[in-house]
Amino acid sequence: MSNNEIKPPLWLLLELTHKCPLECAYCYNQLDFANTKDFMTKEDWFRVLEESREMGAVQLGISGGEPLLNKDIVEIVQKASDLKFYTNLITSGVGGEVGILKKLKDAGLKTVQLGIQSHDENTMTLITNNKTAYRDKIAFAKEVKALGLQLIVNTCITRQNIHQIGEIIEFCDALDANYLEIANIQYYGWALENVDAVLPTKEQLDKAMEVTNHYREERKDMKVFFVVPDYYATRPKACMNGWGSTFLTINPDGVALPCNTANTLPLDFPNVKDHSIEYIWEESESFNYFRGDKWMNPTCRTCPEKEKDFGGCRCQAFALTKDMHEADPVCDKSSYHGVVKKIVETAIKSDKTPLYRNKQNSLHFIKSNPSL
Ligand code: FES
Repeated sequence: MSNNEIKPPLWLLLELTHKCPLECAYCYNQLDFANTKDFMTKEDWFRVLEESREMGAVQLGISGGEPLLNKDIVEIVQKASDLKFYTNLITSGVGGEVGILKKLKDAGLKTVQLGIQSHDENTMTLITNNKTAYRDKIAFAKEVKALGLQLIVNTCITRQNIHQIGEIIEFCDALDANYLEIANIQYYGWALENVDAVLPTKEQLDKAMEVTNHYREERKDMKVFFVVPDYYATRPKACMNGWGSTFLTINPDGVALPCNTANTLPLDFPNVKDHSIEYIWEESESFNYFRGDKWMNPTCRTCPEKEKDFGGCRCQAFALTKDMHEADPVCDKSSYHGVVKKIVETAIKSDKTPLYRNKQNSLHFIKSNPSL
């Protein structure tokens, strides 16, 4: 693919830290996150913003871990506003200093995407392993609305809360959310490690969809999106809208990635401390690796749907087949589709309890995988 055909990185995601006060077992962060250090300085983040904006980036996600734990967040948002980014904070609503939201609004923040896992305190505590999460999140949601910011609630759906969809929708409606995203989780990082403990059944999924559609037909005030989980699909999603086509993620240590979990792949990703965004996006080997169709195996290269799904998700292909060039096994044309079926079959019969995403468990994972 020539440089003329490479489109600009419209969506920039800054993962300001991987520290998080919550311990959700479905987190997509890498299992060895305890190895990632917050090496990026405020000045490094500023340079990333400037260079990405010059390349054409317009949408900015500020994420983590919990981005409110980064002491420079207000200045970073201010810098983004000065550069005319549309800035979206992706947060748990837990752990920020008092008054932080007002400061962020004054700095130009436009939208808050807040994770709310349940209408019920006990379920929220079970999922997050944090006793104040429920109280903190509700107070945060109310403050978002009081400040006149746009509130998008993101509810990650697992076996632990899928039966509560109706109540969760009503709860978010009562919070006056502008949008609700019901995100059936995808299985990467901690979620894949915990698949036996968190995957719901197909029947539960169908019921949840029915309840969501009923709300959509009856009421129109809050827009509700429903993200179907890959494992119950027969065609893969167009992950990241195609590798290196739209999304650029920067990790807390400065590593640049075409998607949040790309560092699970056996590729060397460049660091913004060593290279310009222009070089990373246009020239680096890893960002070019899955552009076009030359990398595809015959199943994908000859498939009439290759322009639609680009062979599916590279991280999922590698996680499930150990070959990152394979078709995404979610696709029923993939010779590995049986792997997904087997995972589902085993998971729905399992009564395992989830392993929380925390430093201790991450260090344990690192210790038992010395090759990392
Ligand atoms: Fe990495 Fe899909 S999550 S390519």
